[in-house]
Amino acid sequence: MTLSEKIVKELNFQLNREIYSAYLYLSMSAYFESLNLRGFAKWMKVQWEEELMHAMKFFNYIVSRGGRVELYTIEAPQKDWKSPLDAFELALEHEKSVTKRIAHLVELAMSDKDHATFNMLQWFVNEQVEEENSFGDIVVKLKMASNDTRVMLFLDKELEKRRSEVKNESSGTIQD
Ligand code: FEO
Repeated sequence: MTLSEKIVKELNFQLNREIYSAYLYLSMSAYFESLNLRGFAKWMKVQWEEELMHAMKFFNYIVSRGGRVELYTIEAPQKDWKSPLDAFELALEHEKSVTKRIAHLVELAMSDKDHATFNMLQWFVNEQVEEENSFGDIVVKLKMASNDTRVMLFLDKELEKRRSEVKNESSGTIQD
């Protein structure tokens, strides 16, 4: 069964939104670099890589089902934020909007009786739970820190430990 035109369009839209997410987090990484918060910057760079991996999962899936990938113009992301908390709150809101988009895609696949697309999307359903948790956790910590320099530096060291898991993905990776 080939993908319906509507599903191809929606999957392409999501592929492009994932690239936008990558772009947004790379912009946040640059913002944190400008504050000398190297750990925060590193964390966001790992997130940038994760988002590109998400985009490639859609890319590879569309191709594997005989669909045509379309790349759109990606708008410039915001450049500055009022504070690290402001940036992470925006990121959390962004992730919640991605979760809604994935839910919309799942509903579409169900109504189209497209079981393969439905199955592929389950990875994203689980991933969004993790994404909201990890961003939400940092928002809570930043609220507790409330710009206390010592706590911020401790948090910066913690976030520096984040390592990319993209290479461990068995399918749909950037390297594919
Ligand atoms: Fe690709 Fe952060 O969701």
